[in-house]
Amino acid sequence: METRKNLSHSAELAERKSSHIELASLSQTSGDGIDSRFDYEPLFFSHPSSTEKWPTEFLSRTLDYPLWISSMTGGTEKAAFINKNLSTLAGKYKLGMGLGSCRPLLETDARLSEFTVRKFMGDQPLLANLGIAQVEECILSSKTSLIHEMVKKTEASGLMIHLNPLQEWLQPEGDRFTISPLETIKRFLDDVSYPVLVKEVGQGLGPKSLKALLSLPLHGIEFGAYGGTNFTKLESLRARDTQVKEPFIHVGHTAHEMVGVLNALPVGKKEFIISGGIKNVLDGYELKMKLKSPALIGMASPFLHPAMESFEALENYFLNLREALLTARGLLSVKEDK
Ligand SMILES: Cc1cc2nc3c(=O)[nH]c(=O)nc-3n(C[C@H](O)[C@H](O)[C@H](O)COP(=O)(O)O)c2cc1C
Repeated sequence: METRKNLSHSAELAERKSSHIELASLSQTSGDGIDSRFDYEPLFFSHPSSTEKWPTEFLSRTLDYPLWISSMTGGTEKAAFINKNLSTLAGKYKLGMGLGSCRPLLETDARLSEFTVRKFMGDQPLLANLGIAQVEECILSSKTSLIHEMVKKTEASGLMIHLNPLQEWLQPEGDRFTISPLETIKRFLDDVSYPVLVKEVGQGLGPKSLKALLSLPLHGIEFGAYGGTNFTKLESLRARDTQVKEPFIHVGHTAHEMVGVLNALPVGKKEFIISGGIKNVLDGYELKMKLKSPALIGMASPFLHPAMESFEALENYFLNLREALLTARGLLSVKEDK
């Protein structure tokens, strides 16, 4: 038995060595392609075990990893399946998660089951989600109690308000703001007893807006930065005659730029979710390490595709992500911007 094992082992080794010879010529790198964001420090590293964690505080809870599943879907049949998969992952691996827009719940409970994910998440941070236009509408009609009830019904830890003026403008059936989002948020915060955060949906936020948000009693800010899924672009694909509006798709701020702006501002006790265009672990790791304030790495679309397939596909994706994140933490130091 032992001999057979040794034999198959040596056959495997020989095969590997032969494939190394074949692949070596295809595996050349050049100095130009180096990722110069990091110092690579192999001397202090051991491969992460399956139980290794990166405990991170967020919304008064300790997450096992600094990862946030950014607000996505709701209001469709498929949403219940996707949300169940996402929230089960968040519960099992102690992550945080944002619901997609809970607007349907302001009017009726018909779609409540798509949003009731608390039972899959334990007490992990969960944020309900509403567009700024609906918050404005509720304020102007003195119906903010509908929002408070919605947060209660979803058993959320708080509310994420999404700020999306360009998306609304390009959306054929989009809402129009009659007061500024800053005014809406200020008025809403006068009458609220749970944590409130604000995010964009793919354009990011400029320095003046960040500064104004930092001056408010918000719990935190999610970037929703430029460089990933962009809802202004998405609406322009749905709309007709967008020639005049189309150039607006390309304005905004990357997560990298927003980290630089925030690091130069007094942020107080706010918490952040760095999201929008975080396409791989190294992007997220670099920005989390650069931001001087407490932050999670948030992703939406990268989680969506495996979550649509099955829980197993999602878990498999997450386990690879987790291992890569812990490997980055063990091996790489982020260089200072020059
Ligand atoms: C299918 C889908 C639905 C989304 N729905 C919402 C939503 O209802 N509310 C919201 O604030 N953001 C929503 N977003 C935006 C994301 O939260 C995130 O800000 C944006 O996708 C950028 O992240 P990404 O580049 O990792 O995808 C949605 C994104 C996707 C892909």
